[in-house]
Amino acid sequence: MNVTTQVDGAPQVDGAPPIVIRKMGFSFEDLPRHWFGGDPIRTHVINGLHFVFPAGERFFIRSLKPFVDKVSPQLRERIRGFSGQEAHHQAEHRRAFKAIEAQGYDVQSFLAWYEKLAFETIEPCVSPLSRLATTAALEHYTAVLGELVLATDTLNDCHPLMRELLMWHACEEIEHKSVTFDVLQHIDPRYRTRVGGFVIGTTVLFLFWGAGIRHMLVQEPRDEIPKSTRQALTVLSSTLSHLIPRALDYLRPSFHPNDHDNYALARAYLEEIGRLDA
Ligand SMILES: [Fe+2]
Ligand SMILES: [Fe+2]
Repeated sequence: MNVTTQVDGAPQVDGAPPIVIRKMGFSFEDLPRHWFGGDPIRTHVINGLHFVFPAGERFFIRSLKPFVDKVSPQLRERIRGFSGQEAHHQAEHRRAFKAIEAQGYDVQSFLAWYEKLAFETIEPCVSPLSRLATTAALEHYTAVLGELVLATDTLNDCHPLMRELLMWHACEEIEHKSVTFDVLQHIDPRYRTRVGGFVIGTTVLFLFWGAGIRHMLVQEPRDEIPKSTRQALTVLSSTLSHLIPRALDYLRPSFHPNDHDNYALARAYLEEIGRLDA
């Protein structure tokens, strides 16, 4: 990793933008129940993400801690920026799922199950190195998802309150996408470590995300769902056709997050909303 420039706080690396911690303070008052195009399926696909993000991001921050003193001061400073951004993501997504709870959905029973299984059963069985590799892989997924929402019209008929949250989060995932990968490469550059993290990360992501979606869909009246199935399947197939090849690129031995040229997408959106620098 070549550090090239010092920019307010976290240093800039190899063309990567500075990692800026932005306080957003979104409000989700008056959010409709089916805030994604009036469609319960698409709404709950993203609601499932709201539920897994905060605890997942807490895990990401924790997984880096054992290695903070083992990397260069420049990379340590980027970890600080990464952790600051992830802490704010947690807070904003918690606010979003409080709004979803206020709409009458049960959220707490899912969170209790998810956090107990993830942190009391799975996490203690995984070594600190594998936790780091898992975070690196999951950060790849969040950057790929971020690119998807910034580069396509996927969120066009999303309610503006949720669109703003998701677009901001997407930008910051792209800004800090290389941090954990660079820490992992520094600590253990073996390909098998990276792949091991990808296998664990992929399994837990789709297990918990899928369970979150299911938890929400079963709370809908049965006659609501069939109406939205066809449109949701169309969106899902175009999403997966973008997501799968980009996600699997992580398995290319020479892969680095900067190989995906998407920093300009994040910059353009942040400039548009006047939040590029703070
Ligand atoms: Fe995040
Ligand atoms: Fe992230």
